Amino acid sequence: MKLTPPARSAVHHPHAHDSALKHATGAARYIDDMAEPRGCLHTALVTSRWAHARLTGIDASRALELPGVHAVVTAADIPGENDVGAIVPGEPLLAEGVVEYVGHPVAAVAARDLETARRAAALVEVTAEPLTPVLDLREAVEKAHYVLPPSEFLRGKPGPALADAPHRIRGEIMVGGQDHFYLETQAALALPQEDQDMLVHSGTQHPTEVQHLVARLLGVDMNAVTVEVRRMGGAFGGKESQATIIAGIAAVLARVTGRPVKCRLDRDTDMMVTGKRHDFLLTWDVGVDDDGRVQAVEMTLAARCGWSVDLSPGVVSRALSHADNAYFYPHVKLTGLFCKTNTQSNTAFRGFGGPQGMMAAEAMMDQIARTLNLDPLEVRRRNFYGPEGRNLTPYHQPVEHFRLPEMLDEVLASSDYAARRKAVDAFNAKGGVLRKGLAVSPVKFGVSFNKPEMNQAGALLHVYTDGSVSLNHGGTEMGQGLFTKVAQVVAAVFGLDLDRIRPTATTTGKVPNTSPTAASSGTDLNGMAARIAAETIRDRMADVAAEHLGAEKSAVVFERNMVRAGNKSVPFGELAELCHVARVSLSSTGFYRTPKIHFDRTTNRGRPFFYFAHGLAVSEVAIDTLTGEWKPLRTDILHDVGASLNPAVDKGQIEGGFVQGLGWLTMEELVWDKDGVLKTHAPSTYKIPTARDVPRDLRVDLLADAPNEEATVFRSKAVGEPPFMLAISVWLALRDAVASCGPAGHVPKLDAPATPERILMAVQAAKDTA
Ligand code: MTE
Ligand code: MOS
Repeated sequence: MKLTPPARSAVHHPHAHDSALKHATGAARYIDDMAEPRGCLHTALVTSRWAHARLTGIDASRALELPGVHAVVTAADIPGENDVGAIVPGEPLLAEGVVEYVGHPVAAVAARDLETARRAAALVEVTAEPLTPVLDLREAVEKAHYVLPPSEFLRGKPGPALADAPHRIRGEIMVGGQDHFYLETQAALALPQEDQDMLVHSGTQHPTEVQHLVARLLGVDMNAVTVEVRRMGGAFGGKESQATIIAGIAAVLARVTGRPVKCRLDRDTDMMVTGKRHDFLLTWDVGVDDDGRVQAVEMTLAARCGWSVDLSPGVVSRALSHADNAYFYPHVKLTGLFCKTNTQSNTAFRGFGGPQGMMAAEAMMDQIARTLNLDPLEVRRRNFYGPEGRNLTPYHQPVEHFRLPEMLDEVLASSDYAARRKAVDAFNAKGGVLRKGLAVSPVKFGVSFNKPEMNQAGALLHVYTDGSVSLNHGGTEMGQGLFTKVAQVVAAVFGLDLDRIRPTATTTGKVPNTSPTAASSGTDLNGMAARIAAETIRDRMADVAAEHLGAEKSAVVFERNMVRAGNKSVPFGELAELCHVARVSLSSTGFYRTPKIHFDRTTNRGRPFFYFAHGLAVSEVAIDTLTGEWKPLRTDILHDVGASLNPAVDKGQIEGGFVQGLGWLTMEELVWDKDGVLKTHAPSTYKIPTARDVPRDLRVDLLADAPNEEATVFRSKAVGEPPFMLAISVWLALRDAVASCGPAGHVPKLDAPATPERILMAVQAAKDTA
C-alpha cells in the first residue's frame, strides 16, 4: 500500500479557503452571530482610570439598582482562584488591591442588554489612592524595573573580540508596538450546563488554556469545562493568552447569575484593555573588519512587557533567537530585558518577538554599511550564515539547509535589482524634492515553539458509512486557512475529493490538552496528527479492501474516490459500509510530536527549531522631503514555503503578512499620554494599512521545487508569520531614501514606525549634517 497523490491533487493545489465564500458573503458565523439563548445576559467592564493605584473601594449599589442589571462582580466574587496567568501565576482576572494600568478590569456587569450593562458600569464607583506609575520604556530600562530577570544568549568571547575589532560601531533604535486590530473583537459566550459544567464559545487560539483557566476561576475540574471555537475573525496572536480574560469574565458572570452570558468588547474597550506587540529599545555594540564582516557583537533587547508577564518569556526568547536573522556572529552576547510599565500587558503578535529581534540585525547591517561606505546588500551577503565554522546560531543550533544565498541571486535577477539600483541613485543625484530608496532584506525564521513540550498535536477523525469524513484537530481557524490545509492532507491520504472532508469546530471535548495555534506551526503539527489518524483508518480499510477485492494488501491503492487493486475497485463509500459490516472501526485519533528538537532554558542552548523558513524582499519607495509623506512603489518577494500544500492560501499569507508588517513599521503608532492613557484606541486615531497602502506593484513568488529537507507534512513549510518580516525591506528603503539627503557615510536616525513626521525629521537631520 503506498500513498499516490490523487489525480485531482488534494495537496500542492490552490484550493479556495473553505470559508472564502462565507467570509465574502457574510454567511460565516462568529460568536456574535450565534442565536442568543433565552435569558442571555450582556457584559460591560468597569476599568481603571489610573495607571497605578491602590484600590480603596468599589461601590456597585447604584449600578445594581438599575432595572435589568443582574450582577456586578469583582475579584471577591470569583468562585475559584482569581488568576489567569498564562506562564507564571499571579495575574488576576479582576484587579485585587491594586490597579496597574488605565483599562485594567476592576469589575464586570451582566445585564439584560448591552446598553443597560454599559450604563450600569458607568455607575460603579471605584475609589483609589494613586501611586507613581512607570510609563516609559527607557525609564523602566534605567530603573531596571522588570517583570522577570534578564535573559542571556552567549557564544564565544564577545568582550575581547570586540576590543580587537578594526572598527567598533554602536547604535540604537526604538521599535514601536502594534495593535492586533483583528476585525472581530474579543468575544465569548458562556453557557451554564447541568451540575457545575460550563460550555464556553470563545474566540481563542488556545481552547485548552481557556478551559484550564476557566476551571481555575470557577473552582471546578477541567472536565467540567468545554471550550469550542469554529473560527475567529482574525487573531494574529492577540487571542492566544488574552482571550482567556474575556472568556473568564463571561464564565464567572454565567456562574454567578446562572444564565448564559455574552462578553464582546467594543473596539475602544478591546484596545484599552488588551495587550499588543511589545515595543523594544534595541542597542548594539558591534566589531567589524574593513569589509563589514561582523567579528563580535553585544546587543541588548529591552521589551516593554507592560504590567504583567503574560507570554513575554516566549516573546523575548524569540526576539533573542532572531536577533541574528540571517547573519553569523562569531562572538555574541544577547541580553533580553523584561521591562515592566504601567500599560497593557503585551502579548503574542505575528512573529512573536522575532520581528523586533530582526530589526536589531537589519538596522545594524544598515549602519555598518553606511558607516564604512559599503553597499548594504554586499554587507548583508558577506555576513550570511555559511558552511560549518560559520553556521552556529547564538543558541548553538547549526543552521542547516540555508537557502538564502541562492534565493538572493534569484530575486536580484527577477527584480532587475542592479539596473534599478543605478536608476535610483541617478534619480537621487539630481537632488530633487522627491527621493527614492531601494533595499533588500532577508528573513530566516525558526519554526517550532521554542518551548519543546508545546510541539505536539492531536486529531480525531471519523469516516461515516457513506464515505464522508469528519475532521477534528486541536488547531484553530483564524482566517489563515488551517482547516483547508489539514482537510487537504486528509483528502490526500484517502484519495478523496476535498469536499468529502468536513472540518469541524475545535473543541476541548474532542481533542484534549492541545497547544495554542501559534508559532506558525498549526499545519505542521495538526496536519501531521490528522495524517496519522487518517493513515490508521486507511490501513484498517485496506485490510477489508484486500479481502473484498481478492488482492494483496500491498496492492491496494486509494485514489479518485475509489479503492483499487489491480483492475478491480470499490467506491470509497462502499468500502466504508463494508468495514462497518465487518465491525472494523472507522474512527481514530492521531498524535504527533515534532522530532529532533530540544532546548535548555537555563543555558539558552539547544535545537529549538525543527527547520527554518526563508524569504527575501526587494522594496522601492519614494519620499517627499518637504512633507515626509511616502509611497511604496514596488516590492518583489521570493518566499520559501517548501512544497506548498496550498499555493493560493500561502500567497495570501505572504501578502497579508507583508502588508501587516508594513503597517507596523510605517504607520501604526500607539500613543499614551502623560497619565498613561492610550490615546490611539480606535481607527480614528490608529492608522492601519488599507488597500491604498499596498505597493502598486507587488510581485510574490514561491520558491520553486523546494521541498522541506525535514520530514514535515508533505514536505511543506510553515508560512503564517515569516512573511511579516519581509516588510523590513520597506523600512530600509525609507532609510535609503533619507540617506540620499545627507553626505556619504550618513546614517539616518529613523525609528519605527517611520511615520511622515519621523521621515521628515530624519531628512532634516540628514540635510543638517550635509
Ligand atoms: N492569518 C489570518 N488571516 N488571520 C490571523 O489571525 N494569524 C497569524 C498567521 N496568519 C493570522 C494569520 C499568526 S500570528 C500565526 S502564529 C499563524 O497564522 C497561526 O496559524 P498557522 O500556525 O496555522 O499558520
Ligand atoms: Mo502567532 S503570534 O504565534 O499567534
